[in-house]
Amino acid sequence: MRPGGLVTVCNDIVLHNRHRVVELGGGVSTVLLARLLRQLWPTGDVRQVVVEHDPVWAGWVQSQLDREELGRRVAVVRAPLGPHPLGASGLHWYDDIALEDGLDRVLGGELIDLLVVDGPPADTSEKDLARYPALPVFASRLAPGATVVLDDVERPGEQEVLRRWEDEYPLAFERRSNTAGVALGRVLAAES
Ligand SMILES: C[S@@+](CC[C@H](N)C(=O)[O-])C[C@H]1O[C@@H](n2cnc3c(N)ncnc32)[C@H](O)[C@@H]1O
Repeated sequence: MRPGGLVTVCNDIVLHNRHRVVELGGGVSTVLLARLLRQLWPTGDVRQVVVEHDPVWAGWVQSQLDREELGRRVAVVRAPLGPHPLGASGLHWYDDIALEDGLDRVLGGELIDLLVVDGPPADTSEKDLARYPALPVFASRLAPGATVVLDDVERPGEQEVLRRWEDEYPLAFERRSNTAGVALGRVLAAES
């Protein structure tokens, strides 16, 4: 995720008091978000989860978190890529059992208030819709008012993913392609 995308995510955390945060595709962003969440909620009730398919990369992310004593604050869920849940040929998604078990272990029944979709890799034309399942799979886990951030929205595949999500779910995404490379959508808040 580029700096402008990270600023978008950090703003959302600070302005909306996010403390149930799930990121698909880990990296330096995971460490930066963990630092911010620790600063905001040093002893608070925070759940940060990163879902990572590559075991070597998951180990690297874990080691960076441990180095800063953030390892116990972030759950690194290792979920290999497997057959796509929607049956799309050639596409892969996180293993259903590893993903659901990991989320249930950390969140129990708690809803997510920020979902950052920066995985699985979707950087070739054969994999361009690889991130589409994120909303179908996570919709029932999102809190009212939650934010969904999709990275790499300048790519044709991510633009198609956004079109499908907007057709299928009551979310409108604000595209910040030029500045931040992300789009940001908000789940409707419950009416009071
Ligand atoms: C777009 S990256 C995720 C980057 C992360 N969210 C960030 O902004 O730092 C998607 C996938 O690429 C892989 N990846 C990311 N950075 C990598 C690196 N420097 N070397 C090798 N693999 C990397 C990981 O498997 C990750 O899930």
